[in-house]
Amino acid sequence: MKKRVIIDTDPGIDDALALALAIKSSELMIKAITIVAGNVVAEQGARNALRVFDAFAGNLPLVYKEAEQPLKKALRTSLFHGEDGLGDCGWPISSRQYENQSAVDVMIELPKKYPNEITLICLGPLTNLALALKKDCEAIAKYKEVFIMGGAVEVPGNITPNAEFNFWVDPEAASFVLNHIENTTTIFGLDVTRKVLLTPDAWKVFEERSEPVAELIVRMLRRFPQGLFINDPLVILASIFPGLLEYVECKKKLDVVLDGQNRGKLIFGEPANSSIKIAYKVKAKQAIDLFLERIN
Ligand code: RIB
Ligand code: CA
Repeated sequence: MKKRVIIDTDPGIDDALALALAIKSSELMIKAITIVAGNVVAEQGARNALRVFDAFAGNLPLVYKEAEQPLKKALRTSLFHGEDGLGDCGWPISSRQYENQSAVDVMIELPKKYPNEITLICLGPLTNLALALKKDCEAIAKYKEVFIMGGAVEVPGNITPNAEFNFWVDPEAASFVLNHIENTTTIFGLDVTRKVLLTPDAWKVFEERSEPVAELIVRMLRRFPQGLFINDPLVILASIFPGLLEYVECKKKLDVVLDGQNRGKLIFGEPANSSIKIAYKVKAKQAIDLFLERIN
């Protein structure tokens, strides 16, 4: 049976590659795409998700928008992904509209409809998941498992020396989720994602393709002559090939610093039982090869 997934995302270039990978992976059945503000404002993120699904002619799951703002902080987007969030390289505008229903309500309804069957994959700030947990923690407990791209344990941050971007944008949401999630949860931090670098040598395979979408990918990736860490696609790969990585059970309370120079930093507290595990090792070359094989 296909693996049912919901992808919560802030498209963003690596999010777009993650969505493309999910579309191309027959093992996955995408039940919904929920949009959270992060790399770009939620409105732009929703439009970008539709643009990616149009370009990859993916079976068009419904796209829902929600968190326009982090729980408490003012939204700080990232120009790393360009003005439009997809590298300003001319992705056609989709003629489709995203759904009116709230992403948080969808995040709550679907696990009730498919108890213990859906994997929730969070690729942006955790605002939507925190809001859903606050609204109906029993529903969220019905997810089979939760995958989170975020945090940094033994490596520096990428938005500040101590913080990873998703946890930094909305530290209150990350803290609330880490203190309240009861599901089997796996955190994919920069410790593993920044070991998986998509280099120009690797992505030149797209230059040999004639499809318009290949041209879009090339234009997007040309922004990164040093290569692009495929943070979000790695989490999609892990949902299909968990053996690509190694994990450690977290036997301490996890939290996220809310303010100051350590804002967004993932920290460990006193010993505690936890349903959270952390990815700490990855077969990076195999991950890149699988990514290229699937997308190409
Ligand atoms: O720190 C990397 C994460 O922040 C990725 O999900 C990227 O898309 C940005 O959201
Ligand atoms: Ca992201």
